[in-house]
Amino acid sequence: MDKRRVAILISGRGSNMTALIEAAQAADFPAEIVLVVSNIAGAAGLEKAAAAGIETVTVASKPFGRDREAFERQLNDTLVAHGIDLVCLAGFLRLLTPWFVSQWDGRMLNIHPALLPSYKGLHTHERALADGVKIHGATVHFVVPEMDSGPIIMQGAVAVLDNDTPDTLARRVLAVEHRIYPDALRLVASGGTRIANGVCTSKANGSPDDALVSPAVI
Ligand code: GRF
Repeated sequence: MDKRRVAILISGRGSNMTALIEAAQAADFPAEIVLVVSNIAGAAGLEKAAAAGIETVTVASKPFGRDREAFERQLNDTLVAHGIDLVCLAGFLRLLTPWFVSQWDGRMLNIHPALLPSYKGLHTHERALADGVKIHGATVHFVVPEMDSGPIIMQGAVAVLDNDTPDTLARRVLAVEHRIYPDALRLVASGGTRIANGVCTSKANGSPDDALVSPAVI
């Protein structure tokens, strides 16, 4: 099997990165993680990736200041030099220009800690709690120039509890993130997704019987 060559882009602790690396160790996984790139020197995830035997590179964004394209050209050169097929953003805290996004059109994934299109941007758990929503979750989507938009590949939901804090909710959502990101990458890397009119469909349909009801009436 010809595995897709994947780079993961991080800025921080890299727990989603670790979930992807672990999943990709399975012999039948259709992708291999060949590179982890951080835009922050010393990001905690770099050490974890190196410990897992993955090549790591820092392309520091800070020296480029406001020249986002110059940073991205270096980033892009690094990805191309490594023969990368697919890019996974995993806590990568940089807005990307339309130029960079167009280089990876349909080949770059992101994970967002909310059920998009609700709660784009930051502080998703705080905002979900403030609104009193009863179901919250995470989304894996293809990256388009507009932030936290783009065809949705997979979502996972959790019940919101009355006594949740942003931290307790974040923890349960993160556990879902660690499930859906590897599954979504498996789906994309195996050629199981199609995008038409801004909508992603896949060979892995949900079950019509799946439902999460929250709160559950006792
Ligand atoms: C995750 O919550 C992810 O959804 C968001 O940034 C966070 C990164 O966490 N995009 P980690 O670095 O993967 O642990």
